[in-house]
Amino acid sequence: MFRTLAIAITLGGAGTALAAQDTGQIPFPEDYRSWHHHHSTVNLDGHEPAGNVGIQHVYADAAALEGLKSGKFAKGATFAVDRFAYSADGNHSLSQAARKVVAVMVKDDERYPETGGWGFQAFKGGDPNARAVTDGGIQCFSCHIPLADNDYLFTRGQ
Ligand code: HEC
Repeated sequence: MFRTLAIAITLGGAGTALAAQDTGQIPFPEDYRSWHHHHSTVNLDGHEPAGNVGIQHVYADAAALEGLKSGKFAKGATFAVDRFAYSADGNHSLSQAARKVVAVMVKDDERYPETGGWGFQAFKGGDPNARAVTDGGIQCFSCHIPLADNDYLFTRGQ
C-alpha cells in the first residue's frame, strides 16, 4: 500500500518534468469571441511569413486584460488571435473569408519556462481538435522573443 503510493508520487514527479513544454493539453478557447477585443490587423499579400496573410483579431480574456493594465500576468491569462483569409472585391474592399487559425498564448510560468512563461497553441481552421503546435511552442516563441520588454507580447496597452 505505502510502496504503491511512493511509486505513484515518483512517477507523478517525472511526468510533470517531461510535460514542462507540452502544449498539447491547452484547450480551445471556447468563448474567446466574448473576450475583450483589443485590436485587429490586416496582413496584406506580400506579408512575411505568407501563412500569416489575412485579417486577424486579437482578444484578451479578463485576466489578460488585467495584465495589460498592471503589467503582471496571472497564471491562466490568455490571449487569442483569430485569423481569416480575405477576399477583395472590385471596389477596393477586403472581406473576411474562411477562418485560417485560432492561436492562443496561455500564461503559466511554471509550466512553460522555455517560452517566456507562455504556452503556445494554435487550432487550424478554428477546429478545437486540430492542434498545430507540436514543438512546445518554440517555433512560435522565436518571433515573440524580441518583445521580452513587454512579456513577449506584441499587444500593448488596453
Ligand atoms: C512570424 C512571426 C510570428 C510567429 C512565428 C508567431 N507569432 Fe504570434 N504574433 C506575431 C505578431 C506580429 C503578433 C501581433 C499580431 C497583431 O497585432 O495583430 C502576434 C501576436 C500573437 C498573439 C496575441 C498576443 C500578442 O503577442 O500580441 C498570440 C496569442 C500569438 N501571437 C500566438 C502565436 C502562436 C500560438 C504562434 C505559433 C503557432 C505564434 N504566435 C507564432 C508574430 C508571430
